[in-house]
Amino acid sequence: MARDGVAIQFDGVYKSFEDTHVLKGMDLEIGWGKITTILGPSGCGKSVTLKHIIGIERADAGRVTVDGNEMGTVSERDLVELRKRIGVLFQSSALFDSMTVRENVGFGLRMHTGASDAEINERVQACLEEVELHGAEEMMPVELSGGMRKRAALARAIAMSPDFILYDEPTTGLDPRTVNVVSDLILKLQDRLDITSVIVTHDMSLTRRISDHVALLYQGKVAAQGSPDEIEAADNEVRRFIAGEL
Ligand SMILES: Nc1ncnc2c1ncn2[C@@H]1O[C@H](COP(=O)(O)OP(=O)(O)OP(=O)(O)O)[C@@H](O)[C@H]1O
Ligand SMILES: [Mg+2]
Repeated sequence: MARDGVAIQFDGVYKSFEDTHVLKGMDLEIGWGKITTILGPSGCGKSVTLKHIIGIERADAGRVTVDGNEMGTVSERDLVELRKRIGVLFQSSALFDSMTVRENVGFGLRMHTGASDAEINERVQACLEEVELHGAEEMMPVELSGGMRKRAALARAIAMSPDFILYDEPTTGLDPRTVNVVSDLILKLQDRLDITSVIVTHDMSLTRRISDHVALLYQGKVAAQGSPDEIEAADNEVRRFIAGEL
């Protein structure tokens, strides 16, 4: 697999919901093996952007390409294969409430691979260790704290050894210490597993700490982008976003 250059590309993407025009000619290139952060005010289309990458939403115009698959025209079969390679940490964590942590983390493996119970258990164990949640296998989601839920969801996201992980607000609602735990985890996974990550957040300190590339989504387009240093030095919408004015 080509690891140089562009993994995910948005090329002139438009997306509306009836009268709500969300994406209005959005262009963005997401590099292989990099952590790309998307910032932007509430409602600007960050979650919608992630949904285009997994093919839950489709562009009205323009193109979204994921590892060479054009999401507007990809076959159902290729889409299924592609989704197996994308781990997602949803905004709400979205664990299955009626399943234990073990069942949650093993869900994708059970659905999509021929792995035996023993193999699945071993993999679940390894993923829980990765997120420092070993010992929580038999707990139900309702018994977990917010930070534990995020980590369980992250274990589930990495269980299938994905090439991509999409994080929607991974630290929102967590206390500062747990924010550090989760951001360390994101960096560790990146380092160890060579994953291409896309992170949606409002959190500037997280952004500074983990991003290779930052894009500010504003009024339907990428209004500014660059390294964390470049983007903070820019005298434009970014400054207003950081100041809480957007
Ligand atoms: N399925 C849908 N049907 C109708 N409108 C939608 C749908 N999905 C998103 N929208 C609208 O699109 C806009 C962008 O939504 P999105 O969830 O991407 O925002 P966001 O940038 O993730 O915001 P937040 O930071 O609050 O999570 C919002 O106005 C939202 O109401
Ligand atoms: Mg959102």
